[in-house]
Amino acid sequence: MKGIILAGGSGTRLHPLTLVLSKQLMPVYDKPMIYYPLSTLMWSGINEILIISTPKDLPIFKELLGDGEKYGCKFQYAEQESPNGLAEAFLIAEEFIDKEKVALILGDNIFYGTGLSTLLQQNNNPDGGIIYAYHVHDPQRYGVVEFDKNGKVVSIEEKPQKPKSNYVVPGIYFYDNSVVEKAKKIKPSERGELEITDINKAFLREDKLKVTVLDKGTAWLDTGTFNSLMQASQFVQLIEQRQGLKIGSIEEAAFKMGYINKRQFKDLIKPLLKSGYGKQLMRLLD
Ligand code: DAU
Repeated sequence: MKGIILAGGSGTRLHPLTLVLSKQLMPVYDKPMIYYPLSTLMWSGINEILIISTPKDLPIFKELLGDGEKYGCKFQYAEQESPNGLAEAFLIAEEFIDKEKVALILGDNIFYGTGLSTLLQQNNNPDGGIIYAYHVHDPQRYGVVEFDKNGKVVSIEEKPQKPKSNYVVPGIYFYDNSVVEKAKKIKPSERGELEITDINKAFLREDKLKVTVLDKGTAWLDTGTFNSLMQASQFVQLIEQRQGLKIGSIEEAAFKMGYINKRQFKDLIKPLLKSGYGKQLMRLLD
């Protein structure tokens, strides 16, 4: 299965922080934001990944992550000219996806929880679409899922004024290859975007959309405002300091998933020892 990280957009809600630097490069405690969704894809068993960003920001992502070889991965890059919506990712990535199945993760979505890696690894062969639902207090900001009393999905609505539930769709999606054709058929919404919710609705109409509720033991963190960005940093700091272990480390994911061996892992963390980041990772070798 291939993976896409969508890391474009204008980041206007974080100005002036994001006036010259992409939102997905902002620090979340000790690492750039994109490390979190990238490591989530890697923990899902995906190591062939396309990173999509703006023409202005893409060179910085390339400089940061390279071709992925040192992580035992293959990273490729593509431009999104303007923020035309999340579903445009599948049009931009058509050649990259080729005949494969594909996972999309948003470059500003941070997930953390026990068993998450195992859960996500089960999605490597979807027949249709596999998405998640997460309970939040402010559903009107997201794609909202309505369930019937048997737990079957009845509807999905993008940013409804009157949400039919508190369950919303986090920014990680697994699809079979038909997603590309579906993306070609949808039309821009009222806000002028190709909506991922319209893709999900197309799978739902075919009765091929699996929606799993993420339990409250899973953290899905928001990074969209100054406060939530700061809180995400504090959350990561708290867990990392208490446990002495890392969250969202692409180096750890590469090693633990077997994309690289012990020697390659040592080479990877050598330049990170002085900051303390690498020292924490060194413990994985014990
Ligand atoms: O975070 C989950 C939510 O993401 C879902 O519940 C919604 O259904 C989905 O539409 C989306 O919500 P937003 O519309 O609020 O997403 P936002 O515009 O904040 O974009 C999400 C990220 O994707 C953000 O980091 C910017 C980037 N992006 C966005 C657009 C529209 C792009 O790279 N390109 C784009 O064209």
